[in-house]
Amino acid sequence: MDWGMENRLARMFSPGSRNSVMLAVDHGYFMGPTHHLEDARTTIAPLLPHADALAVTRGILRRCVPSQDPVPIVLRVSGGATILKDDLSDEKITTSIREAARLNVCAVAMSVFVGAPHEHESLVHLGELVDQGEEAGIPVMAITAVGKELEKRDARYLALACRVSAELGSHLVKTYYCDDFPKVVEGCPVPLVVAGGPKLDSDRAALELARRAIDEGAHGIDMGRNIWQSDHPVAMLKALRAIVHEKATVREAMDVLDGEKVRGPRAAAA
Ligand code: R5P
Repeated sequence: MDWGMENRLARMFSPGSRNSVMLAVDHGYFMGPTHHLEDARTTIAPLLPHADALAVTRGILRRCVPSQDPVPIVLRVSGGATILKDDLSDEKITTSIREAARLNVCAVAMSVFVGAPHEHESLVHLGELVDQGEEAGIPVMAITAVGKELEKRDARYLALACRVSAELGSHLVKTYYCDDFPKVVEGCPVPLVVAGGPKLDSDRAALELARRAIDEGAHGIDMGRNIWQSDHPVAMLKALRAIVHEKATVREAMDVLDGEKVRGPRAAAA
């Protein structure tokens, strides 16, 4: 692997645990001003020191993230559909690899829509993005989007989507945790990170999801709503770090969370 590509990957993954805690704040590109991400700058600022990488669009990066911050950037480069349309799969590449290089990002990310109306286009776009990423030394993360059809989030579907993404050359894959997750991991020869999905009933449920995902072979998380829609986002991120990097049990992670909560709801980080 090229030095630049290796260096970018190394900046996102801890040398100790070989895992990554990515903070996802790219939802607005198709969901608009999502709950608790309306003022992205204020939401992101206290979380940045605790993230191994930030998944974001170029608009929010330029406007809401200080250029002096050392956090590695995973730049979302696909878009073109919103929640007002039934078919979210009608995406194209909306940010060039040249722009990604100019923004000094550590990786680019795009959604792939396996089984959706625009499956073909998204997979061809992934291949093209990988070609461009290889040339520029920038890793590509494929995101296995499942749109509104939540019932598709089973191991058979996700194993297919992850494997296809890896076959087309993506260096990382973001997917969802599911029953039989080891089958998804087994069939995917590149590192997987898991999204959290919509806010779960409790912080504990999100910690349990992360614990299971890491135990079953994920190399980290790329989580959004279960962090910044929590009443205690910084505490939640620290508790997730304990799970992903320090092998904490859910109970130990809950102790981290409860310890941080004394700092107050939606407290800023020290
Ligand atoms: C979708 O908007 C993005 O791919 C998100 O980054 C991804 O879904 C992770 O965020 P969450 O944990 O909120 O699902």
